Amino acid sequence: MDSPWRDFNSEKGFGQAVNLSKTSQLLKAKVPRHVAIIMDGNGRWAKSRLRPRIWGHQQGVTSVRETVKACGELGVAYLTLYAFSDENWSRPAAEVRGLLQLLDSFVAKEGQNLDDQGVRLRVIGDVARIPERTRESLSMLCNRLQNNNRLHLTLALSYGSRGEIVRACSKLAHQVEQGKLRAEDIRIEHVAQYLDTTDLPDPDLLIRTSGERRISNFLLWQLAYAELWFTDVHWPDFRRAHLQAALDDYASRRRRFGLTDEQIQALT
Ligand code: IPE
Ligand code: IPE
Ligand code: MG
Repeated sequence: MDSPWRDFNSEKGFGQAVNLSKTSQLLKAKVPRHVAIIMDGNGRWAKSRLRPRIWGHQQGVTSVRETVKACGELGVAYLTLYAFSDENWSRPAAEVRGLLQLLDSFVAKEGQNLDDQGVRLRVIGDVARIPERTRESLSMLCNRLQNNNRLHLTLALSYGSRGEIVRACSKLAHQVEQGKLRAEDIRIEHVAQYLDTTDLPDPDLLIRTSGERRISNFLLWQLAYAELWFTDVHWPDFRRAHLQAALDDYASRRRRFGLTDEQIQALT
């Protein structure tokens, strides 16, 4: 995982120092390298138009298409979209079914478009819960797009950050059980390596639509130093101009990573 920190061997072994050269790179980049989005508000958007919730989800696909395209054009390298949470499995069965059908149709229809835009696709989350047929077609699409590298698109499906962290802990415990790692040698990098996001840099910017100001179990570990941007716009109305507003705001922020203003000045 690409993080601005490096281990340093403090007496207890848990110390972390800020890696100044990586921090300097992050500070100089005015476009966030990794944008993560909680695409929220589909249901309310539909309800306010006297339509069923699933219609809101369907209309949200246009926003996904537009956001992917704009990110590619604006120089964002990684885009992670929260599409379905662990907790969303508890919604009414008809809505869950509708969302899975929407995912099937996205996978069936969007391949060529994504390929043409140089998009690579990954999936994070507890994918074992996703029906096998959907999982297989997703996996085929990921394989088809695996050599693209203009935009790294990640779909968080059946995703919950607490579950992800527990899965990582369990894998680490196995390593210790098998004598491959000593408990006292566990570092931040070890945990990060077993998270679903192992190949991805931490998000620089988190966007949440629909006026809610919470994280809802999304990337709890990875968002440690992300800038947060909220909008009242519901996801089906989210367009390039909203993304641009978020990126402009990001460019005006002053990230510090725990350092002082003077240190930051010296690094930029
Ligand atoms: C986000 O929209 C999409 C998913 C969670 C799948 P919602 O369905 O949460 O819409 P609201 O928040 O109820 O309006
Ligand atoms: C978060 O939205 C999950 C996704 C966008 C996929 P929710 O609508 O499920 O979150 P809460 O319930 O409002 O916190
Ligand atoms: Mg919601």
